Amino acid sequence: TEQKPVSDTNAAKVHLPDAQTVLSVKHWTDRLFSFRVSRPKSLRFRSGEFVMIGLMGENGKPLLRAYSIASPSWDEELEFYSIKVPDGPLTSKLQHIGVGDEIILRPKPVGTLVHDALLPGKTIWFLATGTGIAPFASLMRDPETYEKYDRVVMMHTCRENAELQYGRELVESLKDDPLIGEMVADKLLYYPTTTREASAHMGRITDNLSSGKVFADLGLPPMTPETDRAMVCGSLAFNVDVKAVLESFGLREGANSEPKEYVVEKAFVGDGI
Ligand code: FAD
Ligand code: A2P
Repeated sequence: TEQKPVSDTNAAKVHLPDAQTVLSVKHWTDRLFSFRVSRPKSLRFRSGEFVMIGLMGENGKPLLRAYSIASPSWDEELEFYSIKVPDGPLTSKLQHIGVGDEIILRPKPVGTLVHDALLPGKTIWFLATGTGIAPFASLMRDPETYEKYDRVVMMHTCRENAELQYGRELVESLKDDPLIGEMVADKLLYYPTTTREASAHMGRITDNLSSGKVFADLGLPPMTPETDRAMVCGSLAFNVDVKAVLESFGLREGANSEPKEYVVEKAFVGDGI
């Protein structure tokens, strides 16, 4: 079947409700890209939340998917970090967006990966696989994260090094950030690992926590429910397994309505679920 470029498809409906303009696009691998769009004036969100975004479908109805906002709540623009699923209804098209194109963005942010869903603590662990780093790209850029915690540990695991690059560059850029640079230098520990290609640190997040390797490598004591908090975002299988590890350290799952020691969100809805 013939594939229409998205810019053509969009040109016909410049006055979409909830339309936002694409300001920049960066491709990281053949499966990953990030982009920035204009922010609706009315949109207020808490760093870590997600919104529904998408494009107009060929049937004239919006084709929307959940996306974590990767930019922090103070930013004038919105950033997203996306997978490209070759035959995915949305991302097979979304991956072709360019500067000046429009996307649809429903300004109703929700989500559990927010500071309010956790009891106060000393160390916060951000645990992500793949595009699950997106909500933490927001939270790592938010001063509130560093005001609330003495230490912030970002563990991100992907199969290969190239998939870590978006997160790696983001963490690097934080050190020079005029707003939070100093806080970050003292507090943020970054622990990227790969599982199917050699790199400085390897292995699954679950294994590196259970074995104590990450604590030894970073010079930290093991997690306890008194001091440690965690936010989790990855595939369903990862989330299930990492929850069991966190529970083994005595942490309990919280929610907006009932803050506890950790919270979880799916980075995507997997096949057959
Ligand atoms: P779909 O039909 O939605 O998905 C097809 C298949 O592709 C899925 O069954 C799954 O196996 C796989 N897949 C989908 N998304 C991913 C992914 N992110 N990583 C690996 N495999 C995937 N996606 C993002 O890229 N960035 C985000 O920030 C993001 N945030 C999300 C937040 C929430 C709360 C949820 C539930 C999902 C989120 N997703 C995110 C997934 C997103 O909603 C879509 O599934 C994705 O954009 C693919 O859309 P699609 O229509 O092309 O394919
Ligand atoms: P692995 O290579 O050992 O499967 P995927 O691309 O399949 O979504 O995986 C992204 C990363 O998450 C990979 O490094 C993968 O490791 C890891 N991973 C996948 N499933 C789990 C799980 N159940 N527990 C811990 N890590 C996982």
